[in-house]
Amino acid sequence: MGELAQLKTAAAALEAQRGNLGDEVVDAGLRPLLERIAALESPMPEERKQVTTLFADLVGFTTMSEQMDAEDVRAVLDSYFALWTASIEHHGGTVEKFIGDAVMAVFGMKQASEDDPERAILAALDMVTSLADLNEILATEQRPPLAMRVGINTGEVVVGAVGDRRQEEWVAVGDPINVAARLQTAAPVNGILIAHSTFRHVRGVFDVQEVPPLELKGKAAATRAYVVERAKPRAFRVPARGVEGVETHMVGRAAELKRMEDAFLNAADGEPGMVTIVGDAGMGKSRLFEEFAAWLDLLPDRIAYIKGRAGQGTVQDAFSLIRDTIAFRFDILDTDPPSVVRDKLSSGVGDSTAELIDVEAGGKPFALIGHLLGFDLGSDALPADIEAQATHELGTAAFIDWVRGLAAVDPVIFVLDDIHWADDSSLDLAARLVTEPDLSRVLVVCGARPALYTRRPGWQAGERRHHRIDLAPLSNRDSRSLVAEILQMVPDVPEDLRDTIVAAAEGNPFHVEELVKMLIEDGVIVKGSDVWEVAQDRLATVRVPATLVGVLQARIDALTPDQKSVLHRAAVIGR
Ligand SMILES: Nc1ncnc2c1ncn2[C@@H]1O[C@H](COP(=O)(O)OP(=O)(O)OP(=O)(O)O)[C@@H](O)[C@H]1O
Ligand SMILES: [Mg+2]
Repeated sequence: MGELAQLKTAAAALEAQRGNLGDEVVDAGLRPLLERIAALESPMPEERKQVTTLFADLVGFTTMSEQMDAEDVRAVLDSYFALWTASIEHHGGTVEKFIGDAVMAVFGMKQASEDDPERAILAALDMVTSLADLNEILATEQRPPLAMRVGINTGEVVVGAVGDRRQEEWVAVGDPINVAARLQTAAPVNGILIAHSTFRHVRGVFDVQEVPPLELKGKAAATRAYVVERAKPRAFRVPARGVEGVETHMVGRAAELKRMEDAFLNAADGEPGMVTIVGDAGMGKSRLFEEFAAWLDLLPDRIAYIKGRAGQGTVQDAFSLIRDTIAFRFDILDTDPPSVVRDKLSSGVGDSTAELIDVEAGGKPFALIGHLLGFDLGSDALPADIEAQATHELGTAAFIDWVRGLAAVDPVIFVLDDIHWADDSSLDLAARLVTEPDLSRVLVVCGARPALYTRRPGWQAGERRHHRIDLAPLSNRDSRSLVAEILQMVPDVPEDLRDTIVAAAEGNPFHVEELVKMLIEDGVIVKGSDVWEVAQDRLATVRVPATLVGVLQARIDALTPDQKSVLHRAAVIGR
């Protein structure tokens, strides 16, 4: 019996005793029961959410199962489902249901985050790999191998809870789910087919092949789709933004750029410094870093430029941000075997590889640095009797020494982006780089969303060498210039169109771009090879694009339930 039925039985039993027990006792007993019943019966509010849906099925399983007895079929299916469930859950997805030999999973249903599409694809890649592993076992049993197909789509669905155990049972409904299912049927054997709506969130993160647009049942327009080949090595994943085919000049931000340039000139002159650029998602932190790097490129001096980015979910991974910078600088790939990692690190750090262990010093600097940062160097890279505490101290000292060596030759710049996601040990080590004695020509530049200060309220507060620069929303004037930049191919941008974009974007350059992309996708702006035209008659169809929804929603999901309900009320009242 479910909780609700039990409660009702209990309430009825109590009610039946009214004659014996009296009103006071019965009412007092009933009150908590009735409250709980009311809570369970009141419908959970439905929410519109942007989610990423994944469908996967087995190819050739029906034929195979015809030659097996029912129990074996069940056993084979169960092992696939167990592996797939593990891949999906490992990447933060929820298995919605199994349908025959297929599985449906949703990413972002309970808690949306910006990288739902990326995680769904990583899960699918894992699933394909684990299928290959299972096939090896099947082969030993003289069974034919199985193949699979995956379809992934991102879009807004209605999410609600059903049943008594409302927290547990969530369902998502909506057209984007059907599209994911159809993509799965259209996917090549052992292939992962993703819709453009998913691809647009992961540009630059995976190697993909575009396939000819698909005519999907029930869809008027053809659906653009891509086959995912592999994830780019982590250090080379640079999520691409902006409107395809357009290069913009940076608008505004001259004062902020100037402060970074000054900080560099001071560092080059022997006054180390640290700058943290703070701004909401899409406000232009990474763009400012690109402009800064372009300015540095034009300087006559040589500079040791070292760059890294923290990723969502790396907070617990000690030194992962610094590891990222070193991997990028020395071209170390995730797939490199330990011997290659050793070679790249030792020649990068400037150690001779001739002898691995320098017993007196407790380890070679490159091995200590590699060990500290969590590179896999093989088990014999450090003396066996060295203690964890010692490796930590020696590793940190070796890293700082290496930077000191670099700074003796050229000014050194560390650019650390998205540090709101960075692990504490990397942040602490980065901060030490500007306070160490005899280490002067260093500048550390960080980019962070304001969330950094929830985690580390005192980040560099009161540090004489630290400068915090807040990125305010663009002024209306700058926003209008940005629209003009992006729409440089439109000969005469209608003023009302421009003002609509400026008003909706609220000074956020990323939102400006996303709104323009949406207008292009909706056919309001038509890209031509020489000029782009504006279809005035379609202007009325303006909607908020999925990506904007995703970004905003991810931020809303990060709020506490209290803040959320205030926001929901505010949204109803309007502003
Ligand atoms: N001042 C600007 N002029 C022109 N384009 C800009 C400007 N600032 C940002 N953009 C563009 O807006 C988009 C978003 O900017 P960017 O990626 O730098 O934001 P961000 O602050 O790093 O966001 P996130 O916190 O999500 O990393 C990019 O395509 C960028 O090129
Ligand atoms: Mg950024």
